[in-house]
Amino acid sequence: MSIALSATGLSKRFKTGRTHIEVLKAVDFDALHGDVTMVMGPSGSGKSTLVATLSGLLKPDAGQVTALGQELWDLRPARIDRFRLDHCGFIFQGFNLFSALTALQQVTTVLKYCGLTPEQARRKAAAALEEVGLGPRMHQRPAELSGGEKQRVAIARAIAKDPKLLFADEPTSALDGENGQVVIKLLHRAAKEHGAAVICVTHDTRLEAYADRIIHLEDGRITSDRRTGQPAAALAKPALIGA
Ligand SMILES: Nc1ncnc2c1ncn2[C@@H]1O[C@H](COP(=O)(O)OP(=O)(O)O)[C@@H](O)[C@H]1O
Ligand SMILES: [Mg+2]
Repeated sequence: MSIALSATGLSKRFKTGRTHIEVLKAVDFDALHGDVTMVMGPSGSGKSTLVATLSGLLKPDAGQVTALGQELWDLRPARIDRFRLDHCGFIFQGFNLFSALTALQQVTTVLKYCGLTPEQARRKAAAALEEVGLGPRMHQRPAELSGGEKQRVAIARAIAKDPKLLFADEPTSALDGENGQVVIKLLHRAAKEHGAAVICVTHDTRLEAYADRIIHLEDGRITSDRRTGQPAAALAKPALIGA
């Protein structure tokens, strides 16, 4: 499997009042296509900051990120935005859906930004919603969907453009165990069937079974990095359960 993303010497500090806190301390990181890489660690250890610097959302103070062969932070801001739109999918704890839009519209909106025609966008969005098991619910708005269903809309929105980099920050922490399993299985499928590099921040140890690799972050440093040796084939075709 090939490297999708690598970073060296990532440092980030935030100013709080008169002092600075070092949130990332010269972190080296890489992630492979086809892998689910989990980033675990206590609250405040820098996980979200790491993902933000890897994905072009937050500029590190030092260090480099090479994403799909591109030196990310050498690009101008507009090009970084374009890179994210073209190649990155994001899933967050809070779903980040527009309350006025149907599930289908949430997904088509992004695809239109990516340059698809309305008809292409509609077709691709419907396929992505089918893939997450929401075909029958695609005309519902967030208020009419359960938490698990909302997160599946967010996943459909993230995977519809077939991104090579998929970032998830605590995607299951607002969900019960069963819905959490559905979410991680879908992320796993994005890695195995679509070759995405999935980088998933979580402190839900039940998700470890779906990880190819587990990286622990503590106080801004990577303290362990191991491959799990999980037999991926057994997990490649997850059955979807109700949300
Ligand atoms: N924009 C910010 N300004 C100041 N401090 C921040 C900012 N973002 C994060 N921090 C601090 O950086 C530390 C790490 O945050 P974060 O990366 O969100 O950790 P995690 O995701 O592991 O919980 C925390 O102490 C947090 O308060
Ligand atoms: Mg966080």
